[in-house]
Amino acid sequence: MRIALIGYGQMGREIERAALEAGIEVGPIFTSRTNSEGRGLTAETLRGVDVCVDFSTPQAVLTHIRRVAEARRPMVVGTTGWFDRLNEVRPVIERAEIGFVYGPNFCVGITLLFRLVAYGASLFRQLPDFDPYVVEWHHWRKADHPSGTALRLGQILLEQLGRKTHLVTRLEGRIPQAGISVAAIRAGSHPGTHLVGFDAPFETLEITHVVRHRRAFAIGALWAARFAKDHKGIFSFEEVIDRFLRGGDV
Ligand SMILES: NC(=O)c1ccc[n+]([C@@H]2O[C@H](COP(=O)([O-])OP(=O)(O)OC[C@H]3O[C@@H](n4cnc5c(N)ncnc54)[C@H](OP(=O)(O)O)[C@@H]3O)[C@@H](O)[C@H]2O)c1
Repeated sequence: MRIALIGYGQMGREIERAALEAGIEVGPIFTSRTNSEGRGLTAETLRGVDVCVDFSTPQAVLTHIRRVAEARRPMVVGTTGWFDRLNEVRPVIERAEIGFVYGPNFCVGITLLFRLVAYGASLFRQLPDFDPYVVEWHHWRKADHPSGTALRLGQILLEQLGRKTHLVTRLEGRIPQAGISVAAIRAGSHPGTHLVGFDAPFETLEITHVVRHRRAFAIGALWAARFAKDHKGIFSFEEVIDRFLRGGDV
């Protein structure tokens, strides 16, 4: 398999290292210099590429998706901060009949955390004394906040608990009763921690996922690339892992 990298920052470089160790060919590599306005991505430059892997910026990624779909190459998108605009590019991807995998977090453990939190919240549905919250930590360079993963965790809590109506990502004064606090910390170089808690008057339950190294994302991104190469359609990384857990082909 040969992958093209769109974005050659911290994640692009880590994916390159992981790919080469796994015997996957890498190249071409597109940077903001060689790919201004996505103009570097053409059928010509992507000839011989099996999958394009995008870890760039929320501002650039929609153009990249359109250009890669026009060149009819499968694609993996790890870039965050654009998922509310998926419907804008969905018809373009569908017309191109390519495989497309996206997700806010390519760690396998995070996908399992989503499942554990859904189950935990369904148990807490009957226990209104337990008040839920989400906290995430990332390095200071991360552009969006809260993380897409924290928002997804919050969404799962809303769906499963029933008694809360919205996420509160910015506090002005006291939190409304029906809100779930989703807090973000930005400092240093930490690759990512997500914590979900349930706090009652005399006890607290917390579940935490810690990324100790960016390699965790890179391994998942390569997993997604293999999947996108062999499966047409639009899939979240969660769906890819679910298929695997159900014994499907990944
Ligand atoms: N899904 C996941 O599992 C996961 C995990 C980690 C990170 N992420 C997300 O992935 C994205 C990248 O993260 P990162 O830590 O690698 O950030 P980063 O180190 O800032 O790298 C982003 C790179 O994209 C480049 N870029 C900007 N515009 C481009 C364009 N038009 N074509 C090609 N490259 C372009 C930037 O180049 P310049 O510096 O020259 O502008 C930069 O090198 C972020 O959205 C982050 O939130 C997702």
